[in-house]
Amino acid sequence: MKRTDYCGLIDRRHLAQTVTLMGWVHRRRDHGGVIFIDLRDREGLVQVVCDPDRAATFATAEKLRNEYVVSLTGLVRPRPEGMVNPNVVSGEIEVLAHEITILNAALTPPFQLDDDNLSETVRLENRVLDLRRLPMQKNLKLRYRAAMSARRYLDAQGFIDIETPMLYKSTPEGAREFLVPSRVHAGQFYALPQSPQLFKQMLMMAGFDRYYQIVKCFRDEDLRADRQPEFTQIDVETSFLDELEIRELMEGLVRTMFAEALGVELPQPFPVMRFEDAIRDYGSDKPDLRIPLKLTELTDLMRDADFKVFRAAAERANGRVAALRVPGGATLTRKEIDDYTAFVKIYGAGGLAYIKVNDAAKPNEEGLQSPIVKFLSGDVLRAILERTGAATGDLIFFGADKASVVNDSLGALRARVGHDRGFAEPGWKPLWVVDFPMFEHDDVHGTWAARHHPFTAPKDGHEELFTRDPGNALAKAYDVVLNGWEIGGGSVRIHRQDVQAKVFEALEISPEDQRKKFGFLLDALQYGAPPHGGIAFGLDRIVTMMAGAESIRDVIAFPKTQRGQDLLIDAPTPVTEQQLRDLHIRVRSNETAKPA
Ligand code: AMO
Ligand code: AMP
Repeated sequence: MKRTDYCGLIDRRHLAQTVTLMGWVHRRRDHGGVIFIDLRDREGLVQVVCDPDRAATFATAEKLRNEYVVSLTGLVRPRPEGMVNPNVVSGEIEVLAHEITILNAALTPPFQLDDDNLSETVRLENRVLDLRRLPMQKNLKLRYRAAMSARRYLDAQGFIDIETPMLYKSTPEGAREFLVPSRVHAGQFYALPQSPQLFKQMLMMAGFDRYYQIVKCFRDEDLRADRQPEFTQIDVETSFLDELEIRELMEGLVRTMFAEALGVELPQPFPVMRFEDAIRDYGSDKPDLRIPLKLTELTDLMRDADFKVFRAAAERANGRVAALRVPGGATLTRKEIDDYTAFVKIYGAGGLAYIKVNDAAKPNEEGLQSPIVKFLSGDVLRAILERTGAATGDLIFFGADKASVVNDSLGALRARVGHDRGFAEPGWKPLWVVDFPMFEHDDVHGTWAARHHPFTAPKDGHEELFTRDPGNALAKAYDVVLNGWEIGGGSVRIHRQDVQAKVFEALEISPEDQRKKFGFLLDALQYGAPPHGGIAFGLDRIVTMMAGAESIRDVIAFPKTQRGQDLLIDAPTPVTEQQLRDLHIRVRSNETAKPA
């Protein structure tokens, strides 16, 4: 028997045809004399009917259990009235089985495939069965369509796919690396690439002009819902274009992917926001613009305020006092406010002062309900109401601390309250964030670190600030943000050796270290490096958003857990003494597990 159709694609057009299907028994129902089988393949389900008057077929049908693999030939006919299911493609028809062959039996699965309440551990331990579930089949097909669409777009724009090495070298910058010991070179290591950044730049220097790759990247960082230790980038680099031209081209890529894979037209053009404005208004460089709330700046106002918590934050060097107005928030209960207070403390906030505006016309202890009103003068209270635009019935939250703590906590609170109170608008809100700082201060080591990576070009003229005022030097760097997720980031690169040397100097990387780590790049820069720049998108994140999934694990076939384990194949595992010996490695801890 040769398959003629996919189960999930049979519809009215197949009526009166004989079809041959291959698939899995999703469910078998014995309706006293008639057996119904929901047969499943990657395209979906079809209802199969087995009548007792075909004795052999019926006998086979009686033997079927969930997840048996069968091939089946039958006649497509309309479903009886009242049994039509408008929710599936095959909902108007059923297949009357003429012949069924069992291709393979199956043990009873440890869970029902359409159980929506499975724990993630159970799902990941049984990933093969989990992947059979329709939502997972849908997600991985969506991922494929998104990637194909990216390839088509980039190909049409003249980009060529070039592979770069997975055995790279350790260049301790950015995230922690995964190391691979060399057997041939005792005591030496490769590192898995965090991204193909320098290879793609060298491909530009080699004259390939337009490069892309859909490529695995490896980062040994703390994992969250939007992070995996190995993840996939759509990595792009191009020569001879400036920042605006690159952004325009890459916006086209995102828009095409959403149109082709999801049928969604993203706004054109994407709005553009400066980093500084994003932090000021949203406390975040990846604001979720579906939520129309903004932070209000109060730092200057609080320098003379009597409330010590606010004044201290306003007076310190990198301090900030800001407010978040919650429209209609006066109805928040004590318990809800306590929960939000606990929430901001996760981000390091010392507390969460608030004012309930019971009567905006009375900006005093009569109209405002709050533990802090008694500490604030009438002028300050009036100014708060005016700046936040608070009206009767609103609530105002306050953050006062180091600017980074205020931004992180109120930024997160804004998103949380926005969703909790139903302020989030539906749809897609993409955004470019631009004009990132070149450097960020590493308070622990007292040094400057590259905010994007050390190969990012400064904005024109900003080299001058490197030594004088590194904190205010801006970069030709840009991120794409979608509904509060950073889905891509890139920059124009440095293509002049003297500028690159200046950046390394600002980062306090000694000339010896520069040579040792990046000599290959510095050399290539001297032999005719074209102006170039690019971007990398997080494919996993883009598809997660498209699928409306909670975690990027739901769009990766075989993901790792939050603790970096693969529960299906059971990795990582210890290795034998001999393997370690070959690699010239001795494990330090004597508690290390022995290989099975
Ligand atoms: P960046 O580090 O911003 O840039 O990474 C680009 C995009 O990759 C995604 N991403 C991740 N996705 C899942 N799990 C992770 N652990 C993870 N880390 C990053 C994000 C991010 O926007 N070489 C530069 C790009 C360039 O400059 O061209 C780079 O890697 O969506
Ligand atoms: P306290 O004087 O410490 O009792 O605080 C008075 C109010 O200010 C309480 O509602 C606290 O939650 C709030 N609060 C304390 N520290 C901060 C802070 N750093 N930022 C915002 N609110 C704060």
